[in-house]
Amino acid sequence: MLNIRRETFADYPAITEVNRLAFGQENEANLIDKIRHSDRYIPKLSLVAEIENFVVGHILFSYIDLVNTEKLQVIGLAPLAVHPQFQKQGIGSALVEAGLKIADDKGEALVIVLGHPHFYSRFGFQPSVVYQIESPFPVPEDVFMVKPLQNYQQKYIGKVVYPPAFDEV
Ligand SMILES: CC(C)(COP(=O)(O)OP(=O)(O)OC[C@H]1O[C@@H](n2cnc3c(N)ncnc32)[C@H](O)[C@@H]1OP(=O)(O)O)[C@@H](O)C(=O)NCCC(=O)NCCS
Repeated sequence: MLNIRRETFADYPAITEVNRLAFGQENEANLIDKIRHSDRYIPKLSLVAEIENFVVGHILFSYIDLVNTEKLQVIGLAPLAVHPQFQKQGIGSALVEAGLKIADDKGEALVIVLGHPHFYSRFGFQPSVVYQIESPFPVPEDVFMVKPLQNYQQKYIGKVVYPPAFDEV
C-alpha cells in the first residue's frame, strides 16, 4: 500500500539514497540538503512515498523567483525521484499529484519544472513560453514547463531565477 506523507528528519538518509539511485549521482541529494537549509524550503511540500515503511520515492517543491518588473515567488518542482525498482508503477505520478494539490490548497499560483514533457504534460504542465515565462538556461522549449494553479494571474510573466542552491545541479 502506497502512502504519501511529509518528510521527517528520520527520512533524510532514505531520501538521499533514493535520489542517488534514481539519478546515479549525488547532485540532487545535495540540492535537497541545500534547499532544506535555505529560506526557500517549504516543509509541507517535501513529500515521501512509502511502501510498508520503506521510502520508495521523494518529491520536493520549493520557492524560486519569477522576475519581470516585479519579483514574484513561484514554486519550482525539483527534484523528483523514484527508487529504480519501483518505477513505472504510478509512484512518481502520485507524488506529483499530491504536491500539486498541496500547492494549490496553499494558494500558490504557479509550478515550474524542467523535465520530460511526456511525463509532465499529463498533469497539465505546458511549455513555459505559452505563459510568457522564460527559462534561465538555454534548453529546448518543451522541457521547461509550467502548471498554473487556481491562483494564477496574468502578472506571472518574466524570467525564472533559481536561488544559489541550484548552482551545482
Ligand atoms: C521520472 C520518474 C520520477 C517517474 O517516476 P515513476 O514512478 O516511474 O512514474 P510513473 O509510474 O508515475 O509514470 C511513468 C511514466 O513516466 C514516463 N517516464 C519515466 N521516465 C521518463 C523519462 N526519462 N523520459 C520520459 N518519460 C519518462 C514513463 O515512460 C511512463 O509513461 P507512460 O505512463 O506513458 O508509460 C522516475 O522514472 C525517476 O525517478 N527517474 C530517474 C530520476 C529522474 O529522471 N527524475 C527527473 C524527473 S524530471
